[in-house]
Order: sequence, then C-alpha cells, then structure tokens
Amino acid sequence: MSIDHHKKLSFATRSVHAGYDSSANQGALNPPIYMTSTYSFDSVADGAGRFSGEQKGHFYSRISNPTQEILETRLADLEEGEAALATASGMGAITAALWTLVGPGDQILVDKTLYGCTFSFMEHGLKKFGVEICYADFTNHAEVQTHLSDKTNVVYFETPVNPNMRVIDIAAVSALVKGHSSAIKIMVDNTYCTPALQRPLSLGADLVVHSATKYLGGHGDLIAGAVVGDSETIQQIRLFGLKDMTGAVISPMNVFLILRGIKTLQLRMERHCQNAQVIAEMLEQHPAVDQVFFP
Ligand SMILES: Cc1ncc(COP(=O)(O)O)c(C=O)c1O
Repeated sequence: MSIDHHKKLSFATRSVHAGYDSSANQGALNPPIYMTSTYSFDSVADGAGRFSGEQKGHFYSRISNPTQEILETRLADLEEGEAALATASGMGAITAALWTLVGPGDQILVDKTLYGCTFSFMEHGLKKFGVEICYADFTNHAEVQTHLSDKTNVVYFETPVNPNMRVIDIAAVSALVKGHSSAIKIMVDNTYCTPALQRPLSLGADLVVHSATKYLGGHGDLIAGAVVGDSETIQQIRLFGLKDMTGAVISPMNVFLILRGIKTLQLRMERHCQNAQVIAEMLEQHPAVDQVFFP
C-alpha cells in the first residue's frame, strides 16, 4: 500500500502497517530481517548506478538496507515527513545530522537545557571544529530573537526538555526563526513525546531527531535513533553524516525490534501519560517534595 493511502488511516493503524507490504514478501505478516552487508548486481553498470545514486536499489548496508527502509518509511509516515534515516543510536542521529548541516564559522542556536550527551557533543565536538554554539532560553521568545544572527544556520531544541520537562512552543519558535531566515534549519528532538503525542514537522520544524532507544523501541532491548525531514536533506545526511562521518549504522535485527515496538506505540504512550499523571499528582501532595515538573 502506498503512503498516500496510509495517510487516510489512523495513527495506530499506520504504526502497524506503513512501509510494509506483506504481499511482496510471500505473505509474511512481519518483515524479513535482511542480515546482509552488501548486495549482488546484474552488471557492473547496475552496481555503479546504485553506488552513484542514479539508480534505485541497495548497494552497501552502511548506506541502506531493505529492513531498515521499512522502518524509515514508517517513521517518515508517522512524523509526517518526506523521508527518514534510522541510525545506531540517538546520538548517531543527532551527530550525523549536525555534521552534515554545519561547518566552521557557522552558529547553532540551542535551548539552554539539553540532554547531557547532546550538550557534550556541542561543547566538546562541534566547538572544537570551529562551530559557534549559542545558548538561549527558548521559552523566552525575545531572547531567541536577540540571539539569531547572520551566522545562524541551525536552531536546535528538545521539547519536553530532558531532564527538567520544560515545554517549548514549536510553532511559535519556528515562526520566529523562519521570519528571521527561511534558510535556517530547525531541529527538534522528539524523543520524549514521539509522533504519537507531537509532530514537530507539522508545527514548522525542518528535522526531527529521536533516541529510538526510548519509547519508539519501547522494550529496553536496543539502542537506536532516527532523523526525519525532507527527502533532500535526509539523503545528504545519509550520504555524508552517516556514510562518511559517523558510520552509525543500525543493525537490521534492531530495526525489526523497533518495527515490532512501534506497533504498540500509541497504546503505550496513552498509558505512560496516565501513569505519569497519577505519579505527578501523588508527588505534588508529598511533604518531602518541593516542586513537581510535569507538563
Ligand atoms: C532526549 C534525548 N535525546 C537523545 C538521546 C541520545 O540517545 P541514545 O542514547 O539512543 O544515543 C537521549 C538519551 O537518553 C535523550 O534522552
């Protein structure tokens, strides 16, 4: 079934079916796990065409893999993006994307609170290579506006933020940034909400990143990540950030597990929210607790 057809189906149904056609796989209810490093080609010209990207088809599994492609189609569908890239970890996704988008002399404007390793990558990784990292409180839109400059080419934030659960208004920040320059790429880490609760691309962001290790996988049995966005940028990230810079390739076995996990994403997220609400209300009443952060 095509993605267009899936768009008419509910989120929960697309979580089970998008990107996989059982009739093309001997009727198998679940996708085959293609444990292969490379592929055979009909001719040298066929192989060369696939390698250059001029011809459709897989060439080497550091670039793409048929099992991985199913997950990527499903994630793009659920996040309402054109394309997706699955990676070996959330940090693999974040670093592959940022290595692709920025260079020396560029500036990234980021929210003042970030997941620890993302912060470390900015501070100890990108800064070392001449990228300027500028921090602002993204809940204060005037502050964001003040820090946007001609050098800004990426705006990056999480919402809800790890670990203090601040909530950033994706639509408001996106409108403000695009008002300054439509060329700036807005990247949102959607790990905490997942597309079951929040779809940043539909609110004005350009790219979404995930630690699929968390709710997307959902069973604590793997490490994985993803980037979702427009086809051209995702292809650039695949061919540079993934292929040449990080090599953060996801295993087909982990792809299979995430595809299985995603089938129950909506049900799990609903229950996570119900449970978290009960815990937050309990903590609010607790005499030993000063403040509860709960969006
Ligand atoms: C919000 C957020 N983004 C990214 C990451 C990094 O993901 P991974 O551990 O899959 O590399 C994490 C990990 O905890 C996270 O919480």
